[in-house]
Order: sequence, then C-alpha cells, then structure tokens
Amino acid sequence: MTKRVAILISGGGSNMLALLRDMGMGGHPARPVLVASNDPAAAGLAKAAAQGVPVAAVDHRPFKGDRTAFEAALLAPLLAAEPDILCLAGFMRVLTPDFVNRFAGRMLNIHPSLLPKYPGLHTHQRALDAGDAQAGCTVHEVTPVLDDGPILGQARVPVLEGDTADTLAARVLVQEHRLYPAVLRRFAAGDRTPVLL
Ligand code: GRF
Repeated sequence: MTKRVAILISGGGSNMLALLRDMGMGGHPARPVLVASNDPAAAGLAKAAAQGVPVAAVDHRPFKGDRTAFEAALLAPLLAAEPDILCLAGFMRVLTPDFVNRFAGRMLNIHPSLLPKYPGLHTHQRALDAGDAQAGCTVHEVTPVLDDGPILGQARVPVLEGDTADTLAARVLVQEHRLYPAVLRRFAAGDRTPVLL
C-alpha cells in the first residue's frame, strides 16, 4: 500500500516539486495527497495544483501569533487528507509540541545546514562567518525541539572562495532537491538508514 504524503510549504516550493517529481516516477512507495501552505499566495500552491495535487492554504496572519488556533485550522484539511507522512519543505512556521507529537515518527523536514551545526535561520551566512570548508543540508525527523530530530540524510557541498550566502544557498539547494526525494523514498519504504550524499 503506498504511503500518503502531505507536504507543507511557505513559498516557491522547489523542494516540494522535487518530491512530487520523484513520487511521479514508477515504483515509488509513496504518493502525494495534499500540498498545504500558511500563505495563500505561496507560488508552490499553483505549481502543485497544476500537477493535479490537492492544495490547501490557511493564512497564519489572522491568528496573530496564536499558534494553537492556526494549527487547529491547518489540521482540518491536513487530517482530511489522511496522510501517513508529513513533509515540511520550506515551511517557515514553528510548530507547537502538540502538533509535532500528533505526527511523531512520521514528520520530516529539510534544513539548509549540516545539523547539528546551525539550527535556526541564516545558516549559510553562519557557515561563511565560521570559515567552514563544507556546508550542506539535512533531512531530519521533526521533534518538538527545533531542527533537532534524528538525522535521516545529509548532503555536503564545498564552500568556495568568494562565496556569498546566496551563492552557497544555490549550491546547497541543488543538493536539497537530490537528498529529500532520496530520503522520502527510503523512509516511505520503512527504511530509516540515513542517506549520505
Ligand atoms: C530551502 O533552502 C530549504 O532548505 C528551506 O527553505 C528554503 C526554500 O525551500 N527549508 P523551497 O524552495 O520553498 O522548497
């Protein structure tokens, strides 16, 4: 039985598109059942809809920081899709422990650093400021502690002379689009062996 995957986005959704592309290949153990966003204007929603994937948007702004109320509204379309797996892909809202625990063991996120280094924001600038020779991205299981769950995959890139946060982000993003699909394919098949690229 193929696993049902819901994907949460906040913007362009390039990682979401990479997941859709891979699930569209033959022999994949999962299929997309919903793409949802906290921003009704997220460009990724139209891209997902164009591929026939059901979409939903719950604008977080009217909830004025009441995370629990926003999440209750988001859960309506999410639970209606009956996902087995939840993929956060460029989703920029911090989720409450109650929400995370509802999907314990079956919620993934991609983070643009080699965790445990640089949880949080501005990861590429922090790697540059630290003089790191390598950077990269991590897919991890989401737990109540931000960017802290068990690592399910990592991809490394070199930091090059003259790199800016933007040039490094672009190099890492290419690897994100390879890593996340590889991890989801393995995770949906019940294999939690980390993917290392
Ligand atoms: C990516 O760098 C991803 O690592 C981070 O959000 C950025 C945008 O992702 N979580 P996407 O293009 O919206 O998938």
